[in-house]
Amino acid sequence: MAKKIYKSLPDMGKARNRVDRPVLRREDIIVPASVSSYAEGRKFFIRTFGCQANVRDEEIMAGYLEKAGFCRTNEAKEADLAIINTCAVRENAEEKVYGEIGNFKANHLRDKDFTLAVCGCMMQEEGVAENLMTRYPFVNIIFGTHNIDKLLDLLAEHLERKKDLVDILSFPGDIVENLPSTRLDSYKAFVNIMYGCDKFCTYCIVPYTRGRERSRSKEDILAECRELVEQGYQEITLLGQNVNSYGKDFQDGTSFASILEEVAKLGIPRLRFMTSHPWDFSDEMLDVIAKYPNIMKCIHLPVQSGSDVVLRRMGRRYSREEYLRLVAHIRERMPECALTTDIIVGFPDETEEDFRATLSLCEEVKYDAAFTFIYSPRKGTPAAKMKDDVDDATKHRRFDQLVKVIEKGVIGHAEKMVGKTFAVLVDGPSKKDPSLLSGYTESGKLVHFRGPSQLKGHIVDVLVKESHTFSMIGELTEDPLLLLAKDFAKAFQNEEVVIRYNEAMKAFKKSESVQRLRDELEASQRALALSVKEGKDEAYLGAKKTYLALKEKYENHPIVMNLHSAQEELQRELDLIQEKLP
Ligand code: 5AD
Ligand code: SF4
Repeated sequence: MAKKIYKSLPDMGKARNRVDRPVLRREDIIVPASVSSYAEGRKFFIRTFGCQANVRDEEIMAGYLEKAGFCRTNEAKEADLAIINTCAVRENAEEKVYGEIGNFKANHLRDKDFTLAVCGCMMQEEGVAENLMTRYPFVNIIFGTHNIDKLLDLLAEHLERKKDLVDILSFPGDIVENLPSTRLDSYKAFVNIMYGCDKFCTYCIVPYTRGRERSRSKEDILAECRELVEQGYQEITLLGQNVNSYGKDFQDGTSFASILEEVAKLGIPRLRFMTSHPWDFSDEMLDVIAKYPNIMKCIHLPVQSGSDVVLRRMGRRYSREEYLRLVAHIRERMPECALTTDIIVGFPDETEEDFRATLSLCEEVKYDAAFTFIYSPRKGTPAAKMKDDVDDATKHRRFDQLVKVIEKGVIGHAEKMVGKTFAVLVDGPSKKDPSLLSGYTESGKLVHFRGPSQLKGHIVDVLVKESHTFSMIGELTEDPLLLLAKDFAKAFQNEEVVIRYNEAMKAFKKSESVQRLRDELEASQRALALSVKEGKDEAYLGAKKTYLALKEKYENHPIVMNLHSAQEELQRELDLIQEKLP
């Protein structure tokens, strides 16, 4: 494309502005004609880097594109329109973006109408968009975090004027409602309760890329959550860079605790929230978390460092002692509460003593999980200008040491779970071993276990048998078929088949003659296997005859027959119900 139009470029000075008030806009979704005709028969692909806020932005962009008539593809190669949604929090996140952009050159060469858009936090940094437009001439549209709701208009402008566009706004940010959304998950949802951050920790780019702290109205949040509950969602995570600040901008006493409580009352089975800043974590919040069983007892409480000197230079607004006091206070109120954290090693001029303070804090707190990062200077932030005498090898050595200390704590928590039963929300087949299902406990521990894939999206009880550092192996405490049936039966008010199956199973377990027959059948199976291994024909024929006779006897036993027919009936019912499900 011949010419590029730079409509507006980022300005870190303006991004720092906290004077202008954010505006509330309720947008109508209008699809420009040029976009709907382009969308016909075309597929979009979105690749998201970074945090949950970016994931939620992806869902909104997907909502716009589907409204315009595009279909989604998860195959980059098939894409007619691709969007790369970027993260700026560390340099390595940015490097991955360049690689991803390069992957789309093939789409561009194959199809002259292919459109590539790049958006998100990294685009809000000064100089990045111009650099991209020069290095990658096949990038067609660049926009930022503040104009996602203009996606279709930008696409229309690009199509109609046949020009590449850059449009990045730097301002405190608006609150935009009535956004479309196609959620990536059908039972776990993220809900933004606020945007931006005013904390300005000295290392962090987020207050510049995502604007000022601004809260969505309670009514809008509750309406979104209510809809999710009605749609059968099992888990909501309330999102904000610093949820404790929710409502402060209304200046009417509204607090995070109040919105948390109101969402909990809607009856969502699992409610989570992230992220909490240790500086303004109130007692009122703790009261609400402790009071509602559907608020998960799991708090992400980034500490960043265990050294007072470093915390001060990071601008974190709390001391090591205050943080530890808060941890003790949370555990006094809710001894079962899991705590997770974020830690940065190698902050400018971090001394060995500072680092040891971080290690000792982790030894003391014993986190359930921790995300550890090597400090990455972000241009335009105060820390990027700080003197740093620590070499890279030292930073990497400290990082490895820290990971080991954290693992010790994590293993300690994991080991205590063995032999206990936990409610697990099933995510579906495990990514590593599809023969297993995986899901998370209320405290956020990953558990793998055997069961049918239909349990996806259900909350089931799992007995933990083995603990590994970052996951557990368990087994379902109830028959999975029955679990599904119970759930469906609840929804369809038809419990007859479940009761029949239950009774047939009870009779099956109680019958001594059936159990004896089963033991004999199993023994004959083993004998048959042995005869095959030994290769003696005569023994094999004898063992096979015994096995087949016992099998027939077992299958024709009235109690076993009754169980099988109850099982079939239940399965038929489940199939029927599943067909009817949306
Ligand atoms: N370098 C390394 N880690 C960072 N984080 C934020 N900014 C930086 C940076 N410049 C980490 C913090 C934060 C998490 C989301 O990312 O630990 O809590
Ligand atoms: Fe960044 Fe600090 Fe805001 Fe978190 S609280 S987003 S670390 S500035």
